[in-house]
Amino acid sequence: MKKLIIATLLIGASLNAADKGAELVDQKCTPCHLFSSSSAKLTNGKMGGPPMWGIMKKIRNKYAKSDDRIAFIRDYAMNPTEEKMLFPAATREYFGVMPSMKDKVSEEEMQIIAEYLNNYQAVK
Ligand code: HEC
Repeated sequence: MKKLIIATLLIGASLNAADKGAELVDQKCTPCHLFSSSSAKLTNGKMGGPPMWGIMKKIRNKYAKSDDRIAFIRDYAMNPTEEKMLFPAATREYFGVMPSMKDKVSEEEMQIIAEYLNNYQAVK
């Protein structure tokens, strides 16, 4: 019985984290990054950055471990620089370097966002 309760709590907690992750990504990232074809919330009808599945493909190609992918997303979104970019110079010339999310997202929220992206963003 105790095991069942713990299992239920754990499942509940991870579902909540996923819900929270989805909500945060929708609020903070999809204004510039397409997440899925159903989340086309584009600023002025135009893409503000590469689609999230393209970003995750780059990150997965570079980092084999989940922890490394999560760390990269967290660091990049808070402190983006030209040197850290996985995308080529053409991406920067077209979109500019991403603005830091420091004022818009807390460290705790960024951890949730990074875990969510690592778990749920399909690679196309
Ligand atoms: C105001 C627009 C804007 C918002 C909002 C935004 N981004 Fe970005 N992002 C960009 C642009 C432009 C690029 C491409 C240039 C670059 O890589 O810096 C980018 C690139 C990235 C990259 C890839 C960096 C690389 O080149 O390796 C990651 C990771 C990323 N964004 C994560 C996020 C996350 C997570 C959020 C939400 C918390 C977010 N972005 C919100 C504009 C935005």
